[in-house]
Amino acid sequence: MCGIMGYIGPRDAAGIVLGGLECLEYRGYDSAGVALAEGHKIGISKCVGSVANLKAQLAKNALSGKMGIGHTRWATHGGVTRENAHPHVDPDGKVVLIHNGIVENFHELGEEFSKKGVRFASETDTEVAAFLISSLYKDDPLLAIREACARLRGSFAFVILFSDIDDRYYCVRKGPPLVLGAAAGEAFCASDVTALLPYTHDILFMEDDEIAELSTEGIALYGFDGTRKEARTKTVDWDASMTSKGMYPHFMLKEIEEQGSVLRKTLTGRIGNADEGGSGEESAGKGGIDLNAEFPFSEENARSFRRVHLVACGTSCHAAAVAGRLADKFTGLDVRVEAASEYRSGSVICDAQTLAIFVSQSGETADTLAAARQARAKGARCLAVTNAVNSSLARELGAVLELRAGPEIGVAATKTFMGQLAALTLLVLWIGKRKGNLSREKELRLTEELARLPMKLEKILGQGETLRKMAESYKDAFGFLFIGRGASHAIGMEGALKLKEISYVHAEAHAAGEMKHGPIAILDVHLPVVAIAPKDDLYEKTLSNIQEARARNAPIIAVASEGDEDIRRFSNDCFFVPGTENELTPFLTVVPLQLFAYHLASILGREIDRPRNLAKSVTVE
Ligand code: F6R
Repeated sequence: MCGIMGYIGPRDAAGIVLGGLECLEYRGYDSAGVALAEGHKIGISKCVGSVANLKAQLAKNALSGKMGIGHTRWATHGGVTRENAHPHVDPDGKVVLIHNGIVENFHELGEEFSKKGVRFASETDTEVAAFLISSLYKDDPLLAIREACARLRGSFAFVILFSDIDDRYYCVRKGPPLVLGAAAGEAFCASDVTALLPYTHDILFMEDDEIAELSTEGIALYGFDGTRKEARTKTVDWDASMTSKGMYPHFMLKEIEEQGSVLRKTLTGRIGNADEGGSGEESAGKGGIDLNAEFPFSEENARSFRRVHLVACGTSCHAAAVAGRLADKFTGLDVRVEAASEYRSGSVICDAQTLAIFVSQSGETADTLAAARQARAKGARCLAVTNAVNSSLARELGAVLELRAGPEIGVAATKTFMGQLAALTLLVLWIGKRKGNLSREKELRLTEELARLPMKLEKILGQGETLRKMAESYKDAFGFLFIGRGASHAIGMEGALKLKEISYVHAEAHAAGEMKHGPIAILDVHLPVVAIAPKDDLYEKTLSNIQEARARNAPIIAVASEGDEDIRRFSNDCFFVPGTENELTPFLTVVPLQLFAYHLASILGREIDRPRNLAKSVTVE
């Protein structure tokens, strides 16, 4: 949450900082601001609304400088006002600060300072932090920052300018992510690697409790105790072009359409090519799953697992729920799927015989990180399934299965969901295989079909216009009820979430069999029911639920398997997906739901890539 960008070097800092903020706007977009240092003079410009508003403001009152910092905000403390927008300056004007995170003891500190007569201009925790640093600053900025950090509780990523220092700026990380990059005579910081890709691919991922000094000489890294640390960098192979919309009107549409290629990448090298034979020892013979190189636990460890926990938030939790169904069927383990925010606050049985899988696109979600830390402390074998191999989750757990989806910019997750389905399916089947619960014949059938799925996805993606027309005919709907059974229930939850997030139309999802226990009461002609009813083992039961809904005059939109003529009779609209193995239907049924949500939001004129109240990476609890 909140996007941060900083620069020092020979170029115009304003352009670089604003460009970075535009790239990071998916992290927050209720207000934006920059501070530009020209010698010892620091100019600040900030406003409510998007970075485009800030650019327009700067076009009228230009600021320049060779060092600058900028922020795009997702409000936590204090409403969305210009006063609360970052950067913040301490009341003495010595320190200019931008911040991502929450300073938990800011009330306590604010009161202490107010008693001394300090008057704050905003309601934010950030301004209090700026004053704390300023009050401790004599002539050693590093010392002042270290002393301030010792007094602050909570989580924070800070970028700091000192008004009497024009050749350096400072970054602090305790919690929310900050990445740094240096090129000849330049040094950058940002909250996400995507903003640095136009300048460098050699990235320093700051760890917690680190302070960095950035100057034209490069990056000097320190611990909170003041010791100098090695400025380690990693090369990121993402391309800057991956972060552009290209010809698409929205990132979300681009990312939905990339799902065929994402699936191919996620599967590559992990399933043997049926024609060429498997690549790993385990998959000797044709086809087969091969996670030998990536599965971080020994054969012995794997055999000792009794439980598998799948823990995540939001869309990632829906992917986990799909995988949970598969794990029930193939692993023979006691399976638990839970939202990270709940998992971390319960007394979950979790020990060395537990495989705890944490699923997170960003690898920075605060609740998922906290849940993972807790499971690790209890001795569980923990694994991160993430798109960000250098994220906090991946680094802390040290055991990672990568999605390989490339950067996802749209706030509503789509292609990373596809990557999660693929990675988790492989993982669960791999465990099933090691546990002796997956027959060779079934393994081959599933992997051969997995390899065919990208083509089938592309066939669905070619029918965007059908889904646009369908969305058009439901644009006045009062809300939507999604139903499905088993993994299709999880897909219903994902469909409902996508719709809510970007169209702001009410949508809820229920297990189809639960409808009679309450939700059926809300059905009438104004409430369309979206039924996810592929031809699988649960099809007939779902069909009965569709008939029950129809009997209450609810319009029915069915997502069904090609060739299913029966379902037409009970539905107002049907969208057919190609047939596949029963266990793999979620890969196909989710796509029409993403496109339906996208088109409905577009018809309703919503800000699709920047839905209200949301931010892509939820780094606060
Ligand atoms: C929905 C969405 C969110 C995220 C959730 C977890 O479209 O994007 O629900 O799935 O905030 O984020 P990650 O996967 O980064 O942990």
